[in-house]
Amino acid sequence: MTTKRTALAQARDEHARLGEEIAAHDRAYYREDAPKISDAEYDALRRRYEALEAQFPQLADDKSLSKKVGAAPSEKFAKIVHAVPMLSLGNIFSDADLWEFLARVKRFLGLQPEAEIRFTAEPKIDGLSCSLRYEKGVLVSAATRGDGFEGEDVTANVGAIGDIPQKLEGSPPEILEVRGEVYMSHQDFAALNERQTAQGKPPFANPRNAAAGSLRQLDPAVTAQRPLKFFAYAWGEVSQMPADTQWGMMQAFRSYGFAVNPLTEVFESGENMLAHFRDIESRRASLGYDIDGVVYKVDDLALQHRLGFVSRAPRWATAHKFPAEKATSVLRGIEIQVGRTGALTPVARLDPVTVGGVVVSNATLHNEDEIARKDIRIGDTVIVQRAGDVIPQILGAVLEKRPEGAEPYKMPDTCPVCGSAALREIDPKTAEADVVRRCTGTLVCPAQAVEKLRHFCSRNALDIEGLGDKQIAFFYEKGLIRKLADIFTLQERDRASLTKIENFDGFGKVSTQKLFAAIEARREIVLNRFIFALGIRHVGETNAIRLARAFETFESLRETARRATPGSEARQRLNDIDGIGDVVAEAVADFFLEDHNEQALDALLAQVRIAPMAAVRSESPVAGKTVVFTGALQRMTRDEAKAMAERQGAKVSGSISKKTDLLIAGADAGSKLAKARELGVETIDEDAWLALVGGTGG
Ligand code: IVH
Repeated sequence: MTTKRTALAQARDEHARLGEEIAAHDRAYYREDAPKISDAEYDALRRRYEALEAQFPQLADDKSLSKKVGAAPSEKFAKIVHAVPMLSLGNIFSDADLWEFLARVKRFLGLQPEAEIRFTAEPKIDGLSCSLRYEKGVLVSAATRGDGFEGEDVTANVGAIGDIPQKLEGSPPEILEVRGEVYMSHQDFAALNERQTAQGKPPFANPRNAAAGSLRQLDPAVTAQRPLKFFAYAWGEVSQMPADTQWGMMQAFRSYGFAVNPLTEVFESGENMLAHFRDIESRRASLGYDIDGVVYKVDDLALQHRLGFVSRAPRWATAHKFPAEKATSVLRGIEIQVGRTGALTPVARLDPVTVGGVVVSNATLHNEDEIARKDIRIGDTVIVQRAGDVIPQILGAVLEKRPEGAEPYKMPDTCPVCGSAALREIDPKTAEADVVRRCTGTLVCPAQAVEKLRHFCSRNALDIEGLGDKQIAFFYEKGLIRKLADIFTLQERDRASLTKIENFDGFGKVSTQKLFAAIEARREIVLNRFIFALGIRHVGETNAIRLARAFETFESLRETARRATPGSEARQRLNDIDGIGDVVAEAVADFFLEDHNEQALDALLAQVRIAPMAAVRSESPVAGKTVVFTGALQRMTRDEAKAMAERQGAKVSGSISKKTDLLIAGADAGSKLAKARELGVETIDEDAWLALVGGTGG
């Protein structure tokens, strides 16, 4: 008796814990399009959760996740209530599971175990589902699944998807909701990620995230540039059914102009379904798009109707998931890649091995903590996994096969690209080191160079017209601009050179002269802009102003910062500046303490003259006032607004208190606005703010 109660109590605890964990992963997957674990790991959590409910049905109350699908739609989009809920599918993982599924279906229908039922089998596409509503053959709305009952309105976004007809062909029913999967092909995914990286944006983790991120864009013009595709496989409201089988419905969809997956087939026996499963599994790597299993559906719609649904999934269908693909290989080395922000990432170099039809010779090791946690050493035989994700992972080492003398891996403490110190930031609150080690050679590291050059020339930094991202990448590649100082010697070198810039593709006499003039115009630069332009980690416009104001000259800042070793008086001086905390002080010190940066700075300072920061406008109505920004600003970014306020001598604070003089409230301001009202703090909107400070950026 007691043991039983204890078992229930334990199960309740585990169920609650798993519920929270799954809900967090659901949010990451559905709303942020950024899953943190592989599908296989997620499925394992979910299976355990459901097993607990099967054993202790009292756990499956209304709040149970087994009653929910997906996550509530994001607030960014208008909502569409689905005329018929969009449900999910149950999963099976083995041959035995399939036999059990078939037996369950027959039992439910009161059929003999040896009776034969027809099933369709088709790939389970790894994208995101979408419901398309047609009235009189014309597309009237498109919605994502959302929580299954209410989805996001993506009507404008699907406009440019070639597989989604705006007008149907043939003779469709008056009201027809077609459902299916929006996905991205491997080829299009690779090209998109190349573009993302070229633009300095983070690449998508896998085609599913890319598809979801592309469809769920507030600006349909962005979606239109993303190559999305669509397979139809289900339906919602239909005024008059064009067929009485699943197969017949797919043929009807095809006749209306939809793409239906060509690997869809009908089977009458479990053996044939399993053979089809294996066939599709073996072709998985060559399909050109991600699939993560095979979906079986009872073909006869009358039987589908009788079988109905259990909570979140139909009884008449199930998804047979592929196991995550694994193989073993030998770890020959660990190579360090340096990203554009200076992050060092360890990458495993493996003896080439085929995992699920794809030859793998590299795998991510994420970071040094991960390597230590898994205790992976060079020379180890390691287990490589390729889940739905494109980047293979290393699960761990086979300890029995560890060669003698294999040493624990030690991350280099210098950047393999430029030789500068590579450090892990310490979070002052937790005193823990950041998982990422970063190169501090901001100004000299070739891996970071293009990014830093871009930042240096950008609008809020030096603002050099004609030296945009494209031109910088071009000059970098030609070897004409590699360091910041090179920008200012470009004209002089061009004069002495035989290959003139004006003869390059995309340049001409006029535009080259204009570019040189724009560079000349920036030889004199205000201190705070200069500090910001250096791209020191954590030093945005606002912190640059704080540093400029505190030190007044660049030499004074530099002189203090290059002595600012941990615990020194100089470090304390940085730390004492209003608004500069430990993290920023450390980043500034690391930057100036790196000798390589020093040399690059000397070269740069030989070219430019730094002007003192404009004196604080004491006549500004906000000088000396404490201001707080809240809500969404429309006409400037929060950073710009803060910088503007500080330029005019105001102190910007993050929270409302009795000391606050002024609250600037943008759209959808929440608790801060309420608190300001409560405390009687003067509150104005964005337009009034711009009128007050002159609107020109001070
Ligand atoms: S049928 C009521 N067929 O998988 C059944 N779903 O895990 C509706 N999916 O929400 C779904 N390929 O996003 C079905 N061939 C396919 C599918 C498929 C991918 C997705 C769909 C669904 C999820 C369930």
